[in-house]
Amino acid sequence: MKKQIEAWPGLGVLSRYDRATEAWILIALHDDTLGAPAGGTRLRIYPTPEDGLRDAMRLAEGMTHKWAALDFPFGGGKAVLALSRELSQPERESLLRRYGRTLGWLGRAFSTGEDLGTSPADMLVVAQHTDTVHGVDRERGVARDPGPFTARGVLAAIRATVQRRFGEPDLSKRSFLVQGVGRVGGPLAGLLAEAGARVIVSDVEEASLRDATRRFECETVLPEAVYDTPCDVYVPCATGGTLSRETVPRLRCAAVAGSANNQLDRPEDGVLLHERGILYAPDYIANAGGALAFGSIHLGVTDETELERRVDGLGDSLRELFEEAARAGEPPEVAAGRRVQRVLERGPAR
Ligand code: PHE
Repeated sequence: MKKQIEAWPGLGVLSRYDRATEAWILIALHDDTLGAPAGGTRLRIYPTPEDGLRDAMRLAEGMTHKWAALDFPFGGGKAVLALSRELSQPERESLLRRYGRTLGWLGRAFSTGEDLGTSPADMLVVAQHTDTVHGVDRERGVARDPGPFTARGVLAAIRATVQRRFGEPDLSKRSFLVQGVGRVGGPLAGLLAEAGARVIVSDVEEASLRDATRRFECETVLPEAVYDTPCDVYVPCATGGTLSRETVPRLRCAAVAGSANNQLDRPEDGVLLHERGILYAPDYIANAGGALAFGSIHLGVTDETELERRVDGLGDSLRELFEEAARAGEPPEVAAGRRVQRVLERGPAR
C-alpha cells in the first residue's frame, strides 16, 4: 500500500486495520480546494486490501469531480470498508460502530453517506458515534436513502441522452439494459418501466434480480451477457470500470448513461466510445443526484420540491455539456473535465 499512497496525487489516506473482523477501514482524501472532503462509504469484499485502497482512491477522485461539477463547497473523499470475508450481522455492526468512532475523532475532516454495500440502517449505526453522516436525523433516529434521488437524477440524464442521441425524448420507444438493480438501479429500472420503456435487467445478486422482476415488467440477462446484448442505452449501476478496451468493442448500444462511479476503465476508453458513435453521459454528472440532494440538505434546503427540482436540473447540465462537446468535436467527458478544472482553479464560490 505504501507504493500506492506515494504514487497518488491526493491529500492522503487514513487507514485502520479492524482486527476483530479482519477488515481494513480506508478513508481516501483526494482534494480540499472547495471544502472538506465528503463522499460515501463503500462496504464489500475485495480480493486484497490493495484493491480496496485502489477503489477508495479512484472513488475519492470521482467525488472531487462530482462536487466541483455541482460547484458545491465540498472536497473529494471516499471511505472503503474492505472486507476479506463475509461478516455475520453482529460483526458487521461492530465494524460500522468502530468506523463511526473513527469518523468521530476525525471531526470535520471527512463527512459521509451511503454508497455501494451500505444502507440507511448502516448509516444510523455509524451516526451513533459521529455527527458527520449526511441524511441522518440523529434526534429522531432516522436516515434517508439517497438512492431514489440518484435514480431520479439518472432518469433526467437518460432523458437528455436519449433526446441528444435519437433526436426525440420518448423513452417508450427505447430499450434499456440496467446492470445492477440495487439501491439505485432498482428504483431507476422501475421508473424506466413506468415510462413505458423496454427494460432489461441484470445483477450478480439473485435477490435483487428477483425483487426487480416482481416489482415491474422486465426481461433479464446473465451478468456475462450484458456487453453483448442489443439495447438502445446501456445503464451501468453497479461497480466501476465496466467501459474498457475489452467491453467497448462488444457493446451493442447507442448510448451509455448510468449511476455507477468510475465507469471508464481508462480515459482512453471514453475516446473508444466516442469513435464508435456511442454517446456517453459522464458518470459524475449523471449520478450526482444523491450527492446533490444530500449536499443541498446539508446546506439548509428542506423543501422536497426544491430538492427534486435541483436533481432534475442535472438533465439540463448534461444537455449543455453535450452541446459544448459537440461544438468542440470532443467526447462529453472531456468537456465535463474542463468545467471541473475551471471551478477548481477558481476555488470556493464564497
Ligand atoms: N455515494 C454517493 C456518490 O457516489 C455520494 C454521497 C455523498 C451520498 C454524500 C450521500 C452523501 O455520489
